[in-house]
This record gives sequence, structure tokens and C-alpha cells, in this order.
Amino acid sequence: MKAIELNHPLIEHKLAILRDKNTGTKEFRELIKEIGMFLCYEAMKDAELEEVEIETPIKKMKTGKLNEDKYAFVPILRAGMGLLEGVTSVIPNAKIGHIGMYRNEETFEPVNYFFKVPKDIEEREVIILDPMLATGGSALDAIDLLKSKGVKKIKFICIIAAPEGIVKVEEKHPDVQIYCAHIDEYLNENKYIVPGLGDAGDRIFGTK
Ligand code: PRP
Ligand code: URA
Repeated sequence: MKAIELNHPLIEHKLAILRDKNTGTKEFRELIKEIGMFLCYEAMKDAELEEVEIETPIKKMKTGKLNEDKYAFVPILRAGMGLLEGVTSVIPNAKIGHIGMYRNEETFEPVNYFFKVPKDIEEREVIILDPMLATGGSALDAIDLLKSKGVKKIKFICIIAAPEGIVKVEEKHPDVQIYCAHIDEYLNENKYIVPGLGDAGDRIFGTK
């Protein structure tokens, strides 16, 4: 599956502010939340609705409703937490799991330090959240962990994706659809996305 990129002038506008090194923590967090909402709408384009009958003030009608119990969001800690508020404003009743991971600064390999997901995770469609898809190492490990728990349908939402990370996910997990706000150019020698936005976790939490 080819990565789906939000292609909209307002998203480019929001990304311009987000990427700017002079943008402070408060505004950075607000923008991650807002773009996360739009990514969630895009990721739910193929959602199956259940037919229900409702009554408007004018008349009865048949329409579609989402069964929110079929979904779970799984942010990759820490930075994935920044996307959680936006996506849960779209699907408030989805359950939430957490995967703790950080990149070893020398090997750039992900280190898993936490894993806690809803008991019935294998019955849910899982949407993984992480603002940055760089080498793809963290995404691959998160997907592997979820599949080992029996999860059958997985989507991956990020703000910025590097071509290198997209290729890795597409090769190993062609069934996982990636949604991103923008596909950037390449990774630098420290495996940071260029031009990117810097360290997403540090900018969300103000840790540097
Ligand atoms: C960042 C980011 C991803 C990962 C992406 O996390 O949020 O999880 O790096 O890199 P990869 O595609 O090369 O694996 P980081 O290790 O900085 O941890 P943090 O979220 O705690 O800041
Ligand atoms: N993690 C980040 O936060 N930023 C990058 O550019 C790459 C990995």
C-alpha cells in the first residue's frame, strides 16, 4: 500500500509553523493535536458504518453510525502522546494502548520499555500514533508487537515520514497503511528527518 499524504494548503500552512524552530511548546502541541485530527479523518475514510434509524426534528431516516468499540489507538511513547488528544476528539470511545520505545542514540535501533494494550486488542482495528517515521525501526517493532498479540488490521498515523521509513514498513508490512501530513526528503547522518521538525518528543514536552 502506498503511503497516503495529506495534500492540502492549510496542512502545509500548519506544517510551516510546526517546523519553524522558533515555534514554542504550547503552539507546537496545539498544532500536533490539530493535524492529528485531520489525519484521523483521512485514516477513517474506509470505515464501515452500521445502519441505524434516527429521527430528525423533521422525519425518521436511515443513516450510518460508527461502532467506536471496534477501534484502539496506540501511541508510541513519548511523542505519540502528542497525537492522542486530536484523534480521541474524533473517536472518543476508542480504547487506548501504549508502547514505550526510544531510539538508541548510537545504533538508532529502537528499545522497547513498555507495552500495555486493551485485553481485547485482537478484535480491534489499531491505529498506531507517532509524529515521526524516520528509519522505520520503531514502527516495525510496534507493528510486530501488535501482530504478535493477534491484531489483524493496523494503520500508522504520523506527521512527517521519511522515504526510508516508508519503504521499510511497506516491504515488511504491506498490509499496514501509512497516513502522513508530509513525506520529507531524506535522513541525515544522525537519522533525523530532513528538513523535518527536529526532535518531536523534546518539542512536545519541552525537554530540550
Ligand atoms: C522518535 C519518534 C519515533 C522514532 C522514530 O522517538 O517519536 O518514535 O524516534 O525513529 P525511527 O523511525 O528511526 O525509529 P524518540 O526515540 O526520539 O523517543 P521520544 O518519543 O521519547 O522522544
Ligand atoms: N525522531 C524525531 O523526533 N525526529 C526525527 O527527525 C527523527 C526521529
